[in-house]
Amino acid sequence: MTASPKEPGRRLAAVPDLDPAPNPHATQAEVEAALKDTKLAQVLYHDWEAETYDDKWHISYDERCIDYARGRFDAVAGEQPLPYERALELGCGTGFFLLNLMQGGVAKTGSVTDLSPGMVKVALRNAESLALPVDGRVADAETIPYEDNTFDLVVGHAVLHHIPDVEQALREVLRVLKPGGRFVFAGEPTTIGDFYARWLGRITWETTTRITRLSAFADWRRPQAELDESSRAAALEAVVDLHTFDPTDLEKIATAAGAVEVHAHTEEFSAALLGWPLRTIEYAVPAEKLGWNWARFGLTSWKTLTWVDEKVLRHVVPRGFFYNALITGVKPS
Ligand SMILES: C[S@@+](CC[C@H](N)C(=O)[O-])C[C@H]1O[C@@H](n2cnc3c(N)ncnc32)[C@H](O)[C@@H]1O
Repeated sequence: MTASPKEPGRRLAAVPDLDPAPNPHATQAEVEAALKDTKLAQVLYHDWEAETYDDKWHISYDERCIDYARGRFDAVAGEQPLPYERALELGCGTGFFLLNLMQGGVAKTGSVTDLSPGMVKVALRNAESLALPVDGRVADAETIPYEDNTFDLVVGHAVLHHIPDVEQALREVLRVLKPGGRFVFAGEPTTIGDFYARWLGRITWETTTRITRLSAFADWRRPQAELDESSRAAALEAVVDLHTFDPTDLEKIATAAGAVEVHAHTEEFSAALLGWPLRTIEYAVPAEKLGWNWARFGLTSWKTLTWVDEKVLRHVVPRGFFYNALITGVKPS
């Protein structure tokens, strides 16, 4: 699939004056306060990550990520009459999901929202450089600051697992959707997937950082100051990752929130078993050390294993074992 022609840009809304400013360098005292306050932790952790987030997760706004975003949408929502007129993204981060969906022809105009001011700032900057008609504001998914019946589509990627009360957030999603409007959330960790991903990540991080401590690999070691700042902010990771999901339970939560036509889908099993160690290595060493061959290897192996997952393993492995959960539903008309 190719990118649809971009919408002509219109004047983009800056982060409103009332929105707090990004705080990318949390102090030790702030980190300690955040250990007891999950929403403060979300803001500090994601403000800290915002400016480097696209690099860290290899996020781009070209065909590779457009295909990925559109593929996730189609996998769970199926064939839909496109484009939606007005879409909202919750927990937009740098805008990865909505901006790429818009480029892929899923929605005409968009609003990006996130609890982290730093993320909203980067998402709006990305939208502006793509000339997409997008506005944005700092917003908590549990209390969405938009009128009832405003949007035709609400999307999110890797956000539900950060929200304390997921059912409340989905009630808010249904409130701001127009009757018959749809939501699509993707990139949520399943409970079993999260278990093996964490163990693989931990073992890979330990092994890689031990090897790079050896003098022969000294130039493969990230500067100590960077590693220290990573560990300080990464201490918050345990506080910001609140949930993992069983796909059937996720369907029950969406139905309890009032959605109809609810359907969960899962994907990535062997792809996740390889993907998590690869991503951890990328994070543990300086970016320039790995180069294009590594990136090509990562993409080719991910595509191959995704094919194996879809064509073979999906028929024999229970859906809860796959790493990624996606969910869709509709606001009753
Ligand atoms: C893992 S990041 C995903 C970002 C982006 N959607 C992506 O896939 O690249 C999760 C995002 O959710 C945001 N977030 C966490 N809790 C939130 C909440 N209660 N309301 C809105 N956004 C939230 C975080 O600030 C962060 O930007």
